[in-house]
Amino acid sequence: MLFDTHAHYYAEQFDPDRDEVLSALPAANVGLVLCPGCDLESSRQSIALAEQYPFLYAAAGVHPEDAFGLPDDWLGQGEAMTHHPKVKAVGEIGLDYYWQEVPRDLQKEVFRAQLALAQRLDMPVIVHDREAHGDSLAIVKGFPGVRGGLRGVFHCFAGSVEMARELVDMGWYLSFNGAATFKNARKAPEVIAAVPLDRIMVETDAPYMAPTPYRGKRCDSRYVYRMAETIAQIKGLT
Ligand code: NI
Repeated sequence: MLFDTHAHYYAEQFDPDRDEVLSALPAANVGLVLCPGCDLESSRQSIALAEQYPFLYAAAGVHPEDAFGLPDDWLGQGEAMTHHPKVKAVGEIGLDYYWQEVPRDLQKEVFRAQLALAQRLDMPVIVHDREAHGDSLAIVKGFPGVRGGLRGVFHCFAGSVEMARELVDMGWYLSFNGAATFKNARKAPEVIAAVPLDRIMVETDAPYMAPTPYRGKRCDSRYVYRMAETIAQIKGLT
């Protein structure tokens, strides 16, 4: 059984056939899915889906690209959602320096506030770090490690082997999506080879990032086996 640890099933790309896709997952050997929110609305939508499908769980959080123009009580609204029994993490949260729309200081403030919330609630976090490796690492280091409460995963991990080792030493997990299967993938295979298997998770980031040989198609959790296959090949396992 595979667990797709990161898939956005509220995305409009699934509007035509969401139930068809989700209902087909258990028979396709996908036994668990975690659907992270990107803002308050999509976090609520993730929870609504989790209420409908027993194998689907949710995370609530504000993504750095959505950190602009939040209501004053955004953190309280987010916290209220985490009390739902099917919400298992705060996410996805983090820093994104690829898109320039949201000022970096605001991204950092929203990221730190949610890390502090997760630590207080003793919940894991799902970190989105795009082209912001130095600052993401520095910020999570500012929070006491696993035994101090904060723990979680760097999703779609794209950092160096050195950063990966540092995170794993601090108790973090790393997860990989279709980007790790692309022919031109360089860093991800090196990182996968360097870190212990029990600290690696698989994800699709559906509807984005379909793995090879489905690249360019709409992605769903049925493709998550490709990440397991790729990791097995790198690790020399079946
Ligand atoms: Ni995502």
